[in-house]
Amino acid sequence: MQAIRAAVFPVAGRGTRFLPATKASPKEMLPIVDKPLIQYAVEEAIDAGATKLIFITGSSKRAIEDHFDTDPELERALTDAGKDELLQSIRGIVPDGITCIYIRQGKPLGLGHAVLCSRSAVGDEPFFVHLADDLIAGNPPCLTQMAAEYAKHGGSVIAVEKVPPEDTSSYGIVSVDAANQDRIMAIVEKPSPDEAPSNLAVVGRYLLPAKIFDKLETTSRGAGGEIQLTDAIADLLEESPVYAYAFSGKRFDCGSKLGYLKATVAYGLDHPTMGKAFREHLQTLLDGE
Ligand code: G1P
Repeated sequence: MQAIRAAVFPVAGRGTRFLPATKASPKEMLPIVDKPLIQYAVEEAIDAGATKLIFITGSSKRAIEDHFDTDPELERALTDAGKDELLQSIRGIVPDGITCIYIRQGKPLGLGHAVLCSRSAVGDEPFFVHLADDLIAGNPPCLTQMAAEYAKHGGSVIAVEKVPPEDTSSYGIVSVDAANQDRIMAIVEKPSPDEAPSNLAVVGRYLLPAKIFDKLETTSRGAGGEIQLTDAIADLLEESPVYAYAFSGKRFDCGSKLGYLKATVAYGLDHPTMGKAFREHLQTLLDGE
């Protein structure tokens, strides 16, 4: 089975739901405790074996490039101040042997178009797509689970989770053949509850073959007037197997303010140095009510 070397991070979206926080800085740089969302994404991809990180960016996203670049001035200042732990925390962000590639999307034509922009950088290999808004706490991490699943049967693998039926219009929704390793039979982008084939929603993790690029080349505008990755996958599943994968772990929808706050609390409680004090503080707040 071919190893997955490339991971694509579509990060061109403006994050209007988080304005004014995202007016001048990317939504992917919003921190969960002490790391930006995009760093969690990169760590997950590296854990799954990716060595080529492809960011599909847009205007006002330069902070992402800076975050994954070296910063000799800051490193010198931390060295001089003897702050070794902090020094290691910034040095280790992108380990040796990992390449970062930045491609501008140019036009906001949708997720499918963003993925198509990565074609020349990915080449003729299977690859991951990771949406940083969907933060997943999993052990092993979600992409690593998906790579193991892929090793079993090849094809494409898409992470899914059940959502309340009234929420189907926020997601790509699939129907699966449970008797055939959860092979996806149909996939629809953001259907209303009465049109949805199930309540099994696509979350932001995909393992796709290079063939998807051919599909994306001919995908016309779909839901919301955008070129949808979901529609290209619908084309793909007619000729090659695409499997739904119910990951183990907890997903936080960090594209919404409530999901973002939930993630902050969960990761804060789990934090190795701060977790205990944070738990005590929350308890005091709750007791005071
Ligand atoms: C995108 C996809 C959708 C998927 C979702 C997961 O939608 O188009 O199929 O279910 O990500 O987060 P978006 O949230 O970007 O509108």
